[in-house]
Amino acid sequence: MPGFDTGSTLADRMRAHAGDARHLYGELIRAMADDWEAGGPARRICAGWEDAPHGAVVQLRLLAGLFRIVLTDRAPELVPFYPCLGGTAPPDTAWPVVRGVLEAHVDELHEALQTAPQTNEVGRSTALLVGLFEAVRRSGRRRVRLLEPGASAGLNLLVDKFRFVERTWQFGPADSALVLRDGVVGETDPQQFAIVDRRGCDLAPVDPSTPAGQLRLRSFIWPFHVERHKRLTAALSVASAHRVVVDQAPAGEWLERELTKPTDDDTLTVVWQSITRQYWPPGETERVRAAIHAARHDRLVAQVAMEYPADDDPTAMLTLSGLPGDALVTLARVGDHGRPVTLLATA
Ligand SMILES: C[S@@+](CC[C@H](N)C(=O)[O-])C[C@H]1O[C@@H](n2cnc3c(N)ncnc32)[C@H](O)[C@@H]1O
Repeated sequence: MPGFDTGSTLADRMRAHAGDARHLYGELIRAMADDWEAGGPARRICAGWEDAPHGAVVQLRLLAGLFRIVLTDRAPELVPFYPCLGGTAPPDTAWPVVRGVLEAHVDELHEALQTAPQTNEVGRSTALLVGLFEAVRRSGRRRVRLLEPGASAGLNLLVDKFRFVERTWQFGPADSALVLRDGVVGETDPQQFAIVDRRGCDLAPVDPSTPAGQLRLRSFIWPFHVERHKRLTAALSVASAHRVVVDQAPAGEWLERELTKPTDDDTLTVVWQSITRQYWPPGETERVRAAIHAARHDRLVAQVAMEYPADDDPTAMLTLSGLPGDALVTLARVGDHGRPVTLLATA
């Protein structure tokens, strides 16, 4: 159970999260807050979570549990409200129907609150590719070993199996199920390279080859983010043909282990990460930094990261560090879901 919060009720925190958003989740979160205060099914589902802090986003855990019920064909009456399933019904008419489904699945939805939000956003592979181009260009090495802490299902480790189509360049197999178009703003310098080894870790790896893993990833993408759902479907298809290992391990401990494994002299090791650092416990960032620093004594290790620079900074940045002669270079500003990647002129 998450930590303790005081001074506001769960309903207050739900309303603060929803604001006045008119999309399906905005409407449902406000209605759930009212229902919680009125002692309806939302109150019973959230029993024991009354003091969960804002960051635990109880309402999103509940809505993901509800979405899993819809995705497993147990609430056909809700399909008309889910745009990713073809629904077009007005979001502000959904609550009475949703309330009935909540009432029918109180125990399952209470259990669903244990599952923390987790996605694997392949839109972020556009940022990774831009970072890889720059790491390859600056290092002159064309064989890459890719390591990703906080990899979730490891989908972005398949970056070279996706197709990227930009105005002046293209990259990746023309027959890839996942085609990412027009994600980069500014001029890149595309490079040829081969990923000779790839591996990830996560505290809670998701297996994208299982129905449960796929359901978990999908249920945390908001149902009206139709393009993200399409991207996930395509990426899962690519992943079904290319298995990637994601070890269950914390970032620092795992990198200490992985970075002491032998590599060929002509290989560039790239540690890549996206939107994971903010979830790391105290000390993890320093342990990761120290592991990479130690490994640099006997090999070239570049670090490509798409992260928010500070807790209160809402703009993710793409950075490259670790190559000889280079301090940390900020390459681009990046949208939350990896697009657009807006290159900075100074990079
Ligand atoms: C928002 S998700 C991002 C996943 C993926 N990097 C992406 O961009 O789609 C954050 C991930 O970090 C993982 N994570 C959190 N703390 C971690 C840690 N200390 N070590 C490794 N992974 C961690 C979570 O389990 C989750 O899968």
